[in-house]
Amino acid sequence: MKQAREWLECASAVVVLTGAGISAESGVPTFRGQGGLWKQFRAEDLATPEAFGRNPRLVWEWYDSRRTALAAVEPNAGHRALARLETRKARFTLVTQNVDGLHERAGSRNVLKLHGDIWTVRCVKCGRERREERTPLPELPPRCDCGGMLRPGVVWFGEPLPGDVWERAEEATREAEVLLVVGTSATVYPAAGLVPMAMNAGARVIECNMEETPFSSGLDRSFRGRAGELLPQLIV
Ligand code: OAD
Repeated sequence: MKQAREWLECASAVVVLTGAGISAESGVPTFRGQGGLWKQFRAEDLATPEAFGRNPRLVWEWYDSRRTALAAVEPNAGHRALARLETRKARFTLVTQNVDGLHERAGSRNVLKLHGDIWTVRCVKCGRERREERTPLPELPPRCDCGGMLRPGVVWFGEPLPGDVWERAEEATREAEVLLVVGTSATVYPAAGLVPMAMNAGARVIECNMEETPFSSGLDRSFRGRAGELLPQLIV
């Protein structure tokens, strides 16, 4: 822990990659593992463009219920530790796979949201995107001013990541002295690809996760535990 803390303290270019695990202690369910959303629901029915095409109301009901649950939770000590770290670094990028908005609520500024944002909606007809924070939504599926149907502003399976966001994540990762990987199963690509990318570019890679991931054994440090407990020890 001491060595990892020093690496983090001394680095001027830091990238953090987070996944659902960092929000678990706020009461947000993860996707895989015990109690995971993909144990209860089929991604093919709810998180693909085909599912939305088949049954937009069903997809929206699921997103509406997740939004409503998220509106009642707060960022935790893990989110806050990362926001603190950002204030001390010349170059800091937080790359998240989470759509919950908890990093921003904890005070993080330079956040790249690889999988979009559950608090935005996009019109399938005119393409306009805007914030939508009402929970529950008054009408499902919601409608755009142009009359088109709105969809959640998230990335679904089978869809490309927002191009500029991914490019910025790659660029920051190639230049990072330290990559801190928190609460992700590191199984969904291209996001997980940032881990070997950082290793190949010579960065120190530190992981915080309750369980082992496919990368754990090859990293500079891999800590088992809760993000909300580990991160305040790493970032004092
Ligand atoms: P997963 O649900 O796949 O993984 C969550 C990880 O967090 C697991 O490795 C857990 O061991 C770990 N974990 C759980 N609680 C933790 C805690 N308190 N502290 C630290 N670690 C903890 O979530 P992601 O890796 O984020 O994509 O999943 C990646 C993507 O797959 C998501 O963005 C989503 C999903 O399908 C889309 O919907 C496109």
